Amino acid sequence: MTQDEMKQAVAKAALDYVETGTVIGIGTGSTANYFIDQLADIKHKIEGVVASSNASAERLKKHGIPVFDLNAVNEISVYIDGADEVNRHLHLIKGGGGALTREKIVAAVSKRFVCIADESKWVDVLGKFPLPVEVIPMARSYVARELAKLGGQPVWREGFITDNGNLILDVHNLRIMEPTKLEETINHITGVVTNGLFARRAANVLLLGTKDGVKTIK
Ligand code: 5RP
Repeated sequence: MTQDEMKQAVAKAALDYVETGTVIGIGTGSTANYFIDQLADIKHKIEGVVASSNASAERLKKHGIPVFDLNAVNEISVYIDGADEVNRHLHLIKGGGGALTREKIVAAVSKRFVCIADESKWVDVLGKFPLPVEVIPMARSYVARELAKLGGQPVWREGFITDNGNLILDVHNLRIMEPTKLEETINHITGVVTNGLFARRAANVLLLGTKDGVKTIK
């Protein structure tokens, strides 16, 4: 199985977590895109979707799937999204596509978070993938200096603006032994909107695409 086939397989498996008559949340990225494309076949089953990015919202609309503003929704039954890294506690690094803040918000509102990922994302220790941090533009240099004090090497994702009008610093060379603590520490730096660690709100279920098929990890 190729990496793309594994992504398609986990996207298909995630359809089983879609509850009839509810609003669901959907993330961003190539794996989430495969899920959106498969969801189109059962769109009549759900009320609609809250999307974590403008890109996903556009894709959903092209399929004729209703997209709701989060403020118009009281409850989201399940959030389905990919990840850049995942460990055995289902702590994640996300934000490779720069949508981390909205992803974190939709995940926070959702009753259940189902992460869909191919086996290349499975790690013992988080941090090989550079940790994305969304930053208010005027605070970029200050936040970069503070991140360097934590032992990382922040690199400005030049030319990239988030859907919220902010910047991304990708922090290289971290070996994240305490994901919850680091998530909180970085979020306390003034000027940080949020960071791509999903440890305080980890995934509830991981559908991992492997060469032997889809493994469910809880
Ligand atoms: C976007 C994300 C994605 O979930 C993450 O980058 C994984 O992407 P892909 O499914 O393309 O591998 O966090 O902000």
